[in-house]
Amino acid sequence: MRMYDIIAKKRDGFELTAEEINFWVKGYTEGFIPDYQVSALLMAIFLKGMSKKETLNLTMCMAESGEKMDLSSIDGIKVDKHSTGGVGDKTTLVLAPLVASAGIPVAKMSGRGLGHTGGTIDKLEAIPGFRTELSMNQFINYVNRIGIALAGQTGNLVPADKKIYALRDVTATVNNISLIASSIMSKKIASGADAIVLDVKTGSGAFMKEEPEAFALAEEMVSIGSGLGKEVVAVISNMDQPLGYAVGNSLEVIEAIETLKGNGPEDLTELCLALGAHMLILAKKAEAYHEAREVLEERLYSGQGLKKFVELIEAQGGNTGVIDRYDLFPKAVQYASITASQDGIISKIDCEKVGVSSLIAGAGRLTKESKIDLGAGIVLKKKVGQKVKKGEVIADIYSNEQEKLQEAMEMLKQAYTIEETFCGQNKLIVGIVRKNGTEKL
Ligand code: URA
Repeated sequence: MRMYDIIAKKRDGFELTAEEINFWVKGYTEGFIPDYQVSALLMAIFLKGMSKKETLNLTMCMAESGEKMDLSSIDGIKVDKHSTGGVGDKTTLVLAPLVASAGIPVAKMSGRGLGHTGGTIDKLEAIPGFRTELSMNQFINYVNRIGIALAGQTGNLVPADKKIYALRDVTATVNNISLIASSIMSKKIASGADAIVLDVKTGSGAFMKEEPEAFALAEEMVSIGSGLGKEVVAVISNMDQPLGYAVGNSLEVIEAIETLKGNGPEDLTELCLALGAHMLILAKKAEAYHEAREVLEERLYSGQGLKKFVELIEAQGGNTGVIDRYDLFPKAVQYASITASQDGIISKIDCEKVGVSSLIAGAGRLTKESKIDLGAGIVLKKKVGQKVKKGEVIADIYSNEQEKLQEAMEMLKQAYTIEETFCGQNKLIVGIVRKNGTEKL
């Protein structure tokens, strides 16, 4: 078999066989097929798409590309959560300790930033000393001891996705349903959870900009997971503007801590409670949605979620002093503000532009080798629907490099639309997809 023929076959719009998919995934993972050939194939897949059969085969090949996690030594129903990626999406940082404090064992593997979106692992690394690379034994021991562990792709788990994910990030081949579904579901299958809650984002900051695409992605993932015997629920949530106010690694961890202290932004708090409620139901800790919400609200406002976050930081070697001393986080030395160009109402924020602006400021990667500036990012002062006066500050932007700050500022200015009238905004949660049907809210 030749990689050249596989690229040409997909370029010409044909379906790849299981053997062909296995050949390139294995060859790339083991280093026999170079980046440039896989880049070409990814672009062909991006342009020509993959059938459901190809997507399932790709998912299985990736899941089988390395070790699998055996969570059987952890008691209870293990429920995992995964987001398709957003801007300012620090949900895991709040949700994981919150549900762990309600008795669900959280053994969560997270990713790094992808494209204009941030990643939980990069964010956690903003906590001085926090170790995100754990051996399988450490990972399982922490969950057994304190009920939670958050790590990068531990050990040799789905090495195929590790390489393909990094390549997609820099070759403009991220937002494709088959590639996203196989990337996420291969990791979820290999990481051994019994049940999974997926947060599928839609809107200007999501990979799936339009709702029908987001529902299609959710349905594809739910179908892959249920076909493999996992309970999967997908929540479709709005990403037409950043979640919360902070975008960028240190800044987002600070906002997550504030949320665990009960002072979080409404949208972030609401999404965490909603996703968490579905996790509690899947873990059989609650029967009805409202019952699950009540449990989580109690855990949040009594400070139990924050306490669990402190235990997590301590277990994984981080400095727990950050909880009360935000000056311990990496900071950017330069900052600038952007101001409203006219009186009016913020009618729209191009959320992807906010993500790209934060990336340019240093919070994300331009190449696979880029080093992240953990202190860089953006703090929005105004969000959609809020009134502004000409000259009023609408966002602050932070970077350690003056040149990047200027470029990021130009991009951020273009993200805001201010108008005299405002027609309202989309709902935060727009639908739920389950094995037995799709509900539009
Ligand atoms: N998250 C992933 O893990 N993979 C993707 O492709 C997109 C979001």
